[in-house]
Amino acid sequence: MGWNSWNHFAEKVTDADVRAAADAIVASGMRDAGYIYVNIDDTWQGDRDASGVIHANSKFPDMKALADYVHSKGLKIGIYSSPGPQTCARYAGSYGHEEQDAKTYAEWGIDYLKYDLCSFGELMKKESGRDPVKAFAMQKAAYEKMHKALLATGRPIVYSLCQYGWNNVWEWGTDVGGNVWRTTGDISDNYSRMAEIGFSQAGLAKYAGPGHWNDPDMLEVGNGGMTEDEYRQHMTLWAILAAPLLAGNDLSKMSPSTLAILTNREVVAVDQDPLGKQGDRVSAVGPTEIWSKPLSNGAQAVALFNRADTEKSISFRPRDIGFAKGFKLRDLWLGKDVTTNGDTYIAIVPAHGAVLLKVSR
Ligand code: GLA
Repeated sequence: MGWNSWNHFAEKVTDADVRAAADAIVASGMRDAGYIYVNIDDTWQGDRDASGVIHANSKFPDMKALADYVHSKGLKIGIYSSPGPQTCARYAGSYGHEEQDAKTYAEWGIDYLKYDLCSFGELMKKESGRDPVKAFAMQKAAYEKMHKALLATGRPIVYSLCQYGWNNVWEWGTDVGGNVWRTTGDISDNYSRMAEIGFSQAGLAKYAGPGHWNDPDMLEVGNGGMTEDEYRQHMTLWAILAAPLLAGNDLSKMSPSTLAILTNREVVAVDQDPLGKQGDRVSAVGPTEIWSKPLSNGAQAVALFNRADTEKSISFRPRDIGFAKGFKLRDLWLGKDVTTNGDTYIAIVPAHGAVLLKVSR
């Protein structure tokens, strides 16, 4: 859990923005809700010096000082690079400098690396003669190379693979040392893209677990392109998916409703449940879907999603997921216990909204 600069600041991000994010994550209570990583995405890179050591550009005058500042707040700091010669925004990537870069990151005090395929994809095409088997082998080798370089630093650094889910990365992400891997192309701050990405995650649950997670991309909550109900659906879906929760909004200008969505303790607890199981779809009837996620102590989280643009009534029978009687039902967004009518719970779910329940004994 944490924050990443890309979704709001994109190429404009500066040292001051990252410091402001660190300040706000503490002042808003987000740190105490679990948001710990403050991650700088693309466009921090400057030139390499004569010996090949990477330096930050003028937007980031002193990375070590920035890392010290973020650490002084009880937070961790992340950075971004590419196995290719250039990142997606055409800044310097780590190609041919993997060990050197890993060492530099460790010296700065970096705790998290997002490693984005970008221009390495072009290299793969060229050098493999468009042979997909060769290209795939190149890709795996590139990710493994940086994994080994990070290990060699002796500093624990979370390793986040970003290659948009190509070649079913969930099947081999752990083999190359990934702790988390993007399963999709980029999210954007609108309902149709968020829903397209989020609901496409059905079937991937078995690949996630402690230390190795599927990542359907960062949160857009609070960026302004969706309604409150849509952001609540976004957060509910990410919690059911045990997805990394990396806020992507401007934390220094956050509305109370954005903060409430990001920090609802009972919803965050579903995402972060120590059992470490990702949830999956149980049923879909037209635009309404029911998903569930196993939680510790035999409990289950159950999400009722309405993808339609009108309000829908959604019925859920706890017995369908193994709770016949003597169970407790709680609406986590409302923060209150609720009861079934007979053996059915019926929720009126707003357009593009979600209800998140916890069923426990
Ligand atoms: C890719 C990634 C994004 C972001 C940008 C930065 O598109 O998928 O998450 O890191 O690059 O250029």
